[in-house]
Amino acid sequence: MEIKGSTNVVGLIGHPVEHSFSPPMHNAAFKKLDMDYVYTAFDVNPQDLENAIKGAEALNIKGFNVTIPHKIEVMKYLNEIDEVAKLIGAVNTIDFKDLKGYNTDGIGAIKAIEEVTSVKNKNVVVAGAGGASRAISFYLAKYGVDTLTILNRNVEKAQKLSEDVLKSGLIDNVESGQINDMDLGDADILINTTPVGMHPNVDVDPIASSDKMHEDLVVFDAVYNPNETVLLKEAIKADAIPVYGIKMLLYQGAESFEIWTGKKAPIDVMEDALTKYLRL
Ligand code: ATR
Repeated sequence: MEIKGSTNVVGLIGHPVEHSFSPPMHNAAFKKLDMDYVYTAFDVNPQDLENAIKGAEALNIKGFNVTIPHKIEVMKYLNEIDEVAKLIGAVNTIDFKDLKGYNTDGIGAIKAIEEVTSVKNKNVVVAGAGGASRAISFYLAKYGVDTLTILNRNVEKAQKLSEDVLKSGLIDNVESGQINDMDLGDADILINTTPVGMHPNVDVDPIASSDKMHEDLVVFDAVYNPNETVLLKEAIKADAIPVYGIKMLLYQGAESFEIWTGKKAPIDVMEDALTKYLRL
């Protein structure tokens, strides 16, 4: 990639950012499509966030991804926020054309699952009620799931999130409960948004064991390190259908790429770059 006077800059803001997989993934896409863009990462302290956004506008930066700890705070400095991102209450993508914020994390999970099945009219169980669950749950509602069941260790958090999703009017059936009481008998899709199974604690009890799963169940784990988590191992044991966390990273990136450039993201190239970077 040749950086020239005309090169467009996009990037990531967060704190820290040095281990991000996004630069190799997006730069591989720009190279493949021979686009005059570069993706880089900026470590921004929380107290500098407003200046960072104003400065980026002044520098004619085209787009940002936003990661921890700025996803909520950054919304204050934007002109417009996408409807679902507003419901989620967090933004991970900024398009500087109109200073508009989006949340592509949830879309990333839906697209990952839609490689194997449509989410429309399905019964979906989501484990966890934190930020990732929130992003995914509102998108599941938007994409037309029939019943959404949010399970969490702290049940009150699951109840609160399910009430918020119900209030959006995007879905009629939202339930909540304790993660240890998981029943997958009527579920079509199970989504794990908790860190259970994440490196270095890979050999823990999974949030669901194979004896709870059936063959038609799709099991998506948002954990991507390791690639095959203890939950996905259980899914394979049950002859269920595993969906790997790396796919969510891939599709959230692809969605951001399309927002900034208006071009279709080269999924295969981005996936190769991601796989190599994460050494999967
Ligand atoms: P993220 O942004 O990744 O969603 P988060 O907002 O901190 O992170 O949310 C983490 C979620 O994983 C929470 O739902 C948390 O459950 P509690 O609300 O009960 O804390 C869940 N979680 C974390 N560790 C867990 C564990 N060991 N077992 C079950 N759930 C766990």
